[in-house]
Amino acid sequence: MSDATKETGLLTAVREFPANVWSSIFRNPLPSNDLERASTSFTNFFLHVHPVKVHRNTLRPLYTLGLGLMSFFLFLILVVTGVLLMFYYVPSTTQAYDRMLDLRGSVAFGIFLRNMHRWSAHGMVAIVFLHMCRVFFTGAYKKPREFNWVLGVGLLLVTLFLSFTGYLLPWDQLAFWAITVGTSIAGYAPLVGKQIQFLLLGDATVGQEALLRFYVLHVAVLPLVLTLLIAIHFWRIRKDGGLSRPEEPAPAQAVTVTVTAVAAPDQAKKKTYGLQGFVRGPFTKVGNVPDNSVFSWPNLLIAELFVFVLVVAAILVLSLMFNAPLEEPVNVMHPPNPAKAPWYFLGLQEMVSYSAFWGGVGVPGIFVLLLLLVPYIDRGTAGVGKWFARERLLANTIFLTLVLVNVMFIIIGTFFRGPNWSMVLPW
Ligand code: HEM
Repeated sequence: MSDATKETGLLTAVREFPANVWSSIFRNPLPSNDLERASTSFTNFFLHVHPVKVHRNTLRPLYTLGLGLMSFFLFLILVVTGVLLMFYYVPSTTQAYDRMLDLRGSVAFGIFLRNMHRWSAHGMVAIVFLHMCRVFFTGAYKKPREFNWVLGVGLLLVTLFLSFTGYLLPWDQLAFWAITVGTSIAGYAPLVGKQIQFLLLGDATVGQEALLRFYVLHVAVLPLVLTLLIAIHFWRIRKDGGLSRPEEPAPAQAVTVTVTAVAAPDQAKKKTYGLQGFVRGPFTKVGNVPDNSVFSWPNLLIAELFVFVLVVAAILVLSLMFNAPLEEPVNVMHPPNPAKAPWYFLGLQEMVSYSAFWGGVGVPGIFVLLLLLVPYIDRGTAGVGKWFARERLLANTIFLTLVLVNVMFIIIGTFFRGPNWSMVLPW
């Protein structure tokens, strides 16, 4: 090969370098027809989670309210901000609080980072709970989605535990006493209560061992479990045929065509052909079948992007406006009165004030068991895919009552409980 040819080849390679790198990563150009839209979905690692087409119902914002997606995006924000916080945090009773002060005083954007992490964590607990309510009120836990509901209950419990373990890490008065109260609730479980409490704390009281255990659970074990559960949750949504929706009118009857062969009289047998289905889309159109699905690219993608921007914006605004609390450093001799658990466990604490066993273990245990069993007890299929369907009046009323009682207990615990858990007025 001559030097001139070599040079031209090199020049072409340099000129085409950006385009070649781009096309080695993204195999398709931005899609301009249905075939390319489909191909974009299944050749991209991240888009592959989506089906090529989704039912229109999936995109109705007032159906899902985007709550599942919001839960997922909040988790992503938590992972990113959490990893950044790990560069500064040390899980030691002598250093943890000082590191919090450093984040506030000397680390660039440290306080903002901590705010984002804190508000996303509270947000995630609330939004996951609301997502569960939406799934219940639309009857979306019914066949074939029973197991995805069960996975969801697991997701709710892990989310609560993840938030709870993070609560201790700042090692201030709020953290210390909230976890002291929270873990003592676990101690009310019959037979194994004290063992569970010891397993969590690694000691008889909240101290260095507990801080280390909560740290490891918070930054490694629970996020991994949650990631795995979310992956299976998403996979199941696809395997269950996409999101729930109201039943559609029965498809047109299969047509049976009877053909008599005339070309070969010796084989003049009657042949029967069953028309198996109608072909849809622009390629081969047979009949006029209403198509209720749309391409994921770009319809679903744009909806997801919208929810993502909304979530990030909300967290940024909240983090600019409000600082995450940081109280005095831990003082084991001076418990605040009253010492309160994190807000999402205040319903439990309120019930514990009436009966330690029933409030802390009995009622919540029965509630979680019922949640797990719901899709296997409530077997009717009427009213699926509709908010507050008439056919589901009884189930929805029972669930709503339980939700309202829990919310009411949380409000009482937060605002109406004073020293020695006595009733006080917040104003
Ligand atoms: C980390 C927590 C969770 C994440 C990230 C998550 C994510 C999602 C997403 C993105 C969807 C599809 C769209 C939507 O409904 O918004 C969904 C659907 C679903 N989720 Fe979750 N979810 C979580 C927790 C839960 C919980 C606590 C439950 C119930 C106990 C649950 C049960 C379901 C069911 C049954 C569906 C299918 C709904 C349908 O077909 O209409 N999920 N989830």
